[in-house]
Amino acid sequence: MSSPSESLLSLVPVVPVVVIDDVAHAVPVARALVAGGLPVVELTLRTPVALDAIAAIAAEVPDILVGAGTVVSPSQVEQAVQAGAGFLVSPGSTPSLLAEMSACGLPFLPGTATVSEAMAVLEAGRTEMKFFPAEASGGAAYLRSLASPLPAARFCPTGGITAVTAASYLALPNVGCVGGSWLTPADALAAGDWDRVRALAAEAAALGTSGS
Ligand code: 3PG
Repeated sequence: MSSPSESLLSLVPVVPVVVIDDVAHAVPVARALVAGGLPVVELTLRTPVALDAIAAIAAEVPDILVGAGTVVSPSQVEQAVQAGAGFLVSPGSTPSLLAEMSACGLPFLPGTATVSEAMAVLEAGRTEMKFFPAEASGGAAYLRSLASPLPAARFCPTGGITAVTAASYLALPNVGCVGGSWLTPADALAAGDWDRVRALAAEAAALGTSGS
């Protein structure tokens, strides 16, 4: 799926964050997420096969928007673009990484955890950002307190969020979606339990229709 012209934060209520150890898992995971109603996936650049996994999903699962997560250096931006990523997510924002992500032309969510970091992203002309690590950085209460002083900022909180806590974030006016790895547990991937991934995705997708 090509990159969206609309907001990255408005596509799905929950962006699945996936750590892939076996490239053979990439396509079935992506298909299970689509079947569950989540046509977006963030593949973290934390394993040797991550770029190959992005390329496989981009080539074989046209119904999903695949992005690269855990982008921590400017050189990874070009690698992710070459692999076919449709968006980028970083856990934090250095000036050089922000510049490189801005220049690559893809939508991206730069990571922030403090008011000053969010202000720096706004100064760079970007209103959408990741809030990471969400739970450890103050959770929904912290984000709620940013809505008044930084009304332009919109967040995808990620880090420590679960199926139980997601709704409290999604209820906030400055949150468009949340991210999390709970939809793709390592043991489900290792066992090839794609039905479990599909069911977890369906449960998460329903958060967008529950009025939360
Ligand atoms: C990450 O980039 O690690 C994401 O924030 C996922 O966090 P989680 O594993 O706590 O959901």
